Amino acid sequence: MRTIALDGPSGAGKSTVAKLVAKQLGIHYVDTGAMYRTLGWYLLQEGVCLSDEAAVEDALSSVSATIQFSGGVQRMYIAGQDVTDLLRAQDVGEAASKIAVYPCVRDKLLGLQRELAVRYDVIMDGRDIGTAVLPDAGVKIYLTASVEERARRRYQELCDKGETGFSQEAIQEEIASRDYRDTHRAIAPLRQAEDAVMVDSTQLTVQEVVDRICTLAGGKVS
Ligand code: DC
Repeated sequence: MRTIALDGPSGAGKSTVAKLVAKQLGIHYVDTGAMYRTLGWYLLQEGVCLSDEAAVEDALSSVSATIQFSGGVQRMYIAGQDVTDLLRAQDVGEAASKIAVYPCVRDKLLGLQRELAVRYDVIMDGRDIGTAVLPDAGVKIYLTASVEERARRRYQELCDKGETGFSQEAIQEEIASRDYRDTHRAIAPLRQAEDAVMVDSTQLTVQEVVDRICTLAGGKVS
């Protein structure tokens, strides 16, 4: 199977880039952040205390998260509900990052992620794809950008959607604390795999990043 592992911090542009690479190469885009967000959304919905690991484990033990591809687009389901369009909210991302530190949460998703890479040719994005989920991926990319630039892009995205009430400074703080949590957790922390190619998108356009990844993947995805 052809696999591209794409890791990096929040807001580096992984999903935008991965969608375009998937289209260009005719492979599936698997968004693992959406899986963590699905569990985070469910726990928020159920009012579970996210800092209580046992309560999180208990709440997730009887529910299953599933994934489907509709017209090549990933859709996430939990407890029978399609939650795909509810996952991008700020509090859901926060919840996902908080619960991603728990082994019970990571174990629940690992099998699903590996199974998808067996079934399809994929570009899979996340934090631990090249290091833990698909250590044998044919191509590994670590996509990053400065925290200021990531905050600026996120702020612009919210403004474009007409969402107000956020300052760029507050977004930058939130991104920095998410980076800290994602890189300092005990299990599968965010880090660049030794054999990953680092792409810093701070000064690059989306198309330049896509071209660079497609070139790296050219004839080499295995
Ligand atoms: O990529 P994202 O913002 O949708 O991810 C949300 C959170 O999920 C992120 O802050 C950490 C967690 N996550 C993870 O721990 N491992 C992954 N492979 C993907 C996401």
